[in-house]
Amino acid sequence: MSQSKHAIKIWDVPVRLFHWTLLALFAFLFWSGKTGGNAMVWHMYAGYAVLALVIFRVLWGFAGSTHARFASFLAGPRRMFDFARALLSRSPAHSVGHNPLGGWMVVVLLGSLALQASTGLFANDDIATEGPLTALISKELSDRLTTIHRWNFDFLLICAGLHVLAVLFHVFVKKENLVAAMFTGVKKFDGEVVGSKGSAVRFANSWLALGLFVLALVAVYLIVKRPF
Ligand code: HEM
Repeated sequence: MSQSKHAIKIWDVPVRLFHWTLLALFAFLFWSGKTGGNAMVWHMYAGYAVLALVIFRVLWGFAGSTHARFASFLAGPRRMFDFARALLSRSPAHSVGHNPLGGWMVVVLLGSLALQASTGLFANDDIATEGPLTALISKELSDRLTTIHRWNFDFLLICAGLHVLAVLFHVFVKKENLVAAMFTGVKKFDGEVVGSKGSAVRFANSWLALGLFVLALVAVYLIVKRPF
């Protein structure tokens, strides 16, 4: 742990683009899903885009920069305990990348986004819209997956709400501007740093990210269009 002023570049461009594109798509999916009708065509395209983003983010979680990797932010019980103790203590302690709780929240968000996008592929609205794979399964199963698609969206809204509240807690209580960091990539803070890896951040090549994203797009195309 160290105690001085810090300004550490942690988020690479792919993670930042991933995040803000995801937020825009999430807002659009909310609106288009509630609106229905003609908006459903675009709802489906936005859903495919989210699926591609999630596949990309999982790949980037293994191949990306230091703080994008799952191995750097999925904490075991020991780190969770240290973090909870630091959170309850008066002295502010800052994590360089995702904090241990935030790290697991990333997994929950990605998992439930994946569930949302994949159930959408099999869903139907009993009127004019059905997912590109709905015809492959029975109506009964499609109805069940549609119900999961609806319930899981409420779950996602709750998780996204908790996520934003946690970010606001960091901004206003811990005086750590995480939102600016998600835009600029640079996290600034005073005080103790928990699990400092700041000096050893390794940034992966953005061309690799582009290649992985194209791979994710091709995977989604193959799933949706089933050309073979
Ligand atoms: C106004 C709304 C939002 C703000 C201000 C915001 C802000 C942030 C910030 C600051 C982080 C980095 C947290 C850290 O430093 O550990 C983050 C990460 C993340 N957020 Fe959000 N967020 C918003 C909405 C959303 C929504 C709606 C979703 C998904 C449904 C989402 C999914 C994620 C994910 C998956 C990460 C991890 C990023 C990564 O490691 O690739 N966020 N968000």
